[in-house]
Amino acid sequence: MEPPSGPASRRHVPWSRLLLAGSLLNFWTPPTATQLTVETVTPLAAEGSDVLLLAHNMTKNTLGYAWQRGERVDNAQLIASYRVDTNATTNGPAYSGRETLYPNGTLLIRNVTQRDTGSYTLLVTKNDLQTEIQTGHLHVHPVLPTPVITSNNSNPREHEDTVVLTCGAETQNTSYMWWINSQSLPKGTRLELSEDKRTLTVVAVTRNDTGPYVCEARNPVSVSRSDPFTLDVLSPVAKPSLQASNATVTEHEGPVILTCLADETGVSIRWFFKGQSLLLAQRMTLSSDKSTLTIDPVSREDTGDYQCEAFNRGNSSRSDPLRLRVTSIGTCAVSPLLTP
Ligand SMILES: *[C@@H]1O[C@H](CO)[C@@H](O)[C@H](O)[C@H]1NC(C)=O
Ligand SMILES: *[C@@H]1O[C@H](CO)[C@@H](O)[C@H](O)[C@H]1NC(C)=O
Ligand SMILES: *[C@@H]1O[C@H](CO)[C@@H](O)[C@H](O)[C@H]1NC(C)=O
Ligand SMILES: *[C@@H]1O[C@H](CO)[C@@H](O)[C@H](O)[C@H]1NC(C)=O
Ligand SMILES: *[C@@H]1O[C@H](CO)[C@@H](O)[C@H](O)[C@H]1NC(C)=O
Ligand SMILES: *[C@@H]1O[C@H](CO)[C@@H](O)[C@H](O)[C@H]1NC(C)=O
Ligand SMILES: *[C@@H]1O[C@H](CO)[C@@H](O)[C@H](O)[C@H]1NC(C)=O
Ligand SMILES: *[C@@H]1O[C@H](CO)[C@@H](O)[C@H](O)[C@H]1NC(C)=O
Ligand SMILES: *[C@@H]1O[C@H](CO)[C@@H](O)[C@H](O)[C@H]1NC(C)=O
Repeated sequence: MEPPSGPASRRHVPWSRLLLAGSLLNFWTPPTATQLTVETVTPLAAEGSDVLLLAHNMTKNTLGYAWQRGERVDNAQLIASYRVDTNATTNGPAYSGRETLYPNGTLLIRNVTQRDTGSYTLLVTKNDLQTEIQTGHLHVHPVLPTPVITSNNSNPREHEDTVVLTCGAETQNTSYMWWINSQSLPKGTRLELSEDKRTLTVVAVTRNDTGPYVCEARNPVSVSRSDPFTLDVLSPVAKPSLQASNATVTEHEGPVILTCLADETGVSIRWFFKGQSLLLAQRMTLSSDKSTLTIDPVSREDTGDYQCEAFNRGNSSRSDPLRLRVTSIGTCAVSPLLTP
């Protein structure tokens, strides 16, 4: 087949008409020895990165080429065109200032944004005015920030409240994973994941649901894991009981040991004497977990009602009062010798 115009006239054909001629001749594409191809170097690109749209198998006898947005040759979507005989680059309406056209036909787009997602079409016009067209595709994804787990209830009550945990802000094309205590989610009916797995619902929380929870957000260009999140479950505190080694003792005799029995872990203990916070005298010592109060030696001033209270961050419960009687030495009334 003969090319539609001879080499002599080609030299004087205005560039815009060459492009137009090229686009009109699209349907007439004879088989060529090498096939022009467009390769997007990173078809799934991270926002802010630079992307190359490589033109492979460009023929030597090229008059010029033009890159446009979209799947078609469209001057309204022209990014830039290049003319080989003058080395002249002309920017088009779709040029954003971030594109560079190389003499080998490759297009560089710097600092891509999600708006750059789409198709890019290269039109090559050859010396014989034949054209070749190839389209490449680019999908720009955001780099996901570190997700933060939020709860719709910061102080859920045990067995009463249902809590919804959410992994970060909603983003497209993102998948999620969760861990509790560094383990994948246990099977069970009380844990429900939303369809996209961004939210985790814990039905009727218990103290065992404290966590810590970790979630991970993943898209085609990034993976990001949250900091651990701990759920503060408010659990009711059972009433403790108070026992004494001996509730009726003689002054200055052996130690009296009061023991507070609280049947839960995770509770703290405090003591009351005659309804007031107990002020520790020198004779008194508390065990490190505060469950045992030792009075040694015991004094008549220690006579009275003792109580212990078990508490956590949201609830507390006090024991029944236990009366300690400290009697004077001897069975009779207070000896006059002992009073100053
Ligand atoms: C160049 O064209 C040849 C023939 O069509 C083809 O086999 C080859 O894969 C092409 N090269 C590239 C990098 O596309
Ligand atoms: C074209 O040139 C650019 C810049 O020098 C280079 O990065 C790219 O790899 C070249 N394209 C091809 C297909 O070799
Ligand atoms: C175009 O660039 C080539 C090398 O890059 C150079 O040899 C040639 O003289 C240039 N042509 C014009 C018209 O500037
Ligand atoms: C990349 O683009 C963003 C806006 O999309 C801009 O804030 C940033 O400064 C640009 N970075 C560079 C290196 O040009
Ligand atoms: C949290 O979400 C769950 C499920 O939608 C709901 O039952 C519960 O009342 C919510 N809690 C608060 C404090 O809004
Ligand atoms: C990203 O999400 C959009 C809409 O949610 C969808 O049309 C597109 O196919 C997705 N892209 C990828 C690469 O998954
Ligand atoms: C919490 O876990 C422990 C140990 O697995 C279990 O004995 C206890 O019954 C659980 N408590 C609740 C409220 O589910
Ligand atoms: C309690 O203390 C009193 C006086 O110190 C003593 O007589 C009594 O035996 C003690 N009771 C017990 C059960 O230790
Ligand atoms: C402790 O929890 C129980 C049951 O939820 C509640 O009835 C009680 O009022 C709470 N006590 C305090 C001191 O908050």
